[in-house]
Amino acid sequence: MTRNTGLTIAPFPGGFGAEVRQIDLAGEVPAEAAAELDAALDAHTVLVFRGQDLNEDDQLRLAEVFGGGTLRSHPDEKRAETTAHARAIGLVTNIRENGKPIGSLPDGELWFHYDGAFIDAPYRATLLYAVEVPDSGGHTLFADMYRAFDALDPDTRAVLRGRTCLHYFDHVTYAERADPNPDLDQVRHARHPAVIRHPHNGRPVLYVSPLQTARIEGMNAAESASLLTRLFAYTENPDLIYEHVWRKGDLVIWDNWGTAHARTDFPADQTRLLRRSIVRGKPLAEAAF
Ligand code: OGA
Ligand code: MN
Repeated sequence: MTRNTGLTIAPFPGGFGAEVRQIDLAGEVPAEAAAELDAALDAHTVLVFRGQDLNEDDQLRLAEVFGGGTLRSHPDEKRAETTAHARAIGLVTNIRENGKPIGSLPDGELWFHYDGAFIDAPYRATLLYAVEVPDSGGHTLFADMYRAFDALDPDTRAVLRGRTCLHYFDHVTYAERADPNPDLDQVRHARHPAVIRHPHNGRPVLYVSPLQTARIEGMNAAESASLLTRLFAYTENPDLIYEHVWRKGDLVIWDNWGTAHARTDFPADQTRLLRRSIVRGKPLAEAAF
């Protein structure tokens, strides 16, 4: 029997992502609502909550709803060692102290990527909460990578079957295509199937991104590069994208197994401050396709 938790889930017109209404995320999340949100994330991939007034504890409690436990956000971030929530709240911001960013991913455009693709068990979800946003730009784009897979022709699928890709994280370069031969001693990296099976709903997902996928293993360099170029066009197809225009008080959660995300440029002289938390993931297996 479905209990009436009071919240409503309004799918976006493009058929990808949903707004969750009639829920105040400050304080405890009732168990029935938690279960509904967890299922909604698997079903809709991106969940948007508007007009929330959340402190760090509220955000961490919400992250726990999605299971697995929260991880330290951006382990390279200085703040992680110095605050009470060192474990699990990071800042995505261009604010600087003594010229140094106080958080991560400070400036401008950010190309499509999956959070955690560079570790063996990519994150289940990322949560961002908007504390301060610029007047224009700095939108977050989410690509429906289930539909990207669905759009692949049979020949391309056949080439991808049994293939793995190398992914890495370069925390300096955010708007350049991944280097096909990164220095693997210098970057965190992992390999995953080119088409993953979503660990919860079993659907196939195209798992490549221009920012972090270096190459398709087992192909020659030119073939790998040209196939990746073709695949990235699916990620960047506007028909498959939900574009989130931030307002202060927005909380957005996305499923890092089903969507790749990117950020549009924004003025350098305006402050952007988002609080970030991530939910522990699982190793990814290849889909049957
Ligand atoms: C992230 C991220 C996008 C943004 O926090 O992982 O990609 O819009 N952020 O800042
Ligand atoms: Mn990201």
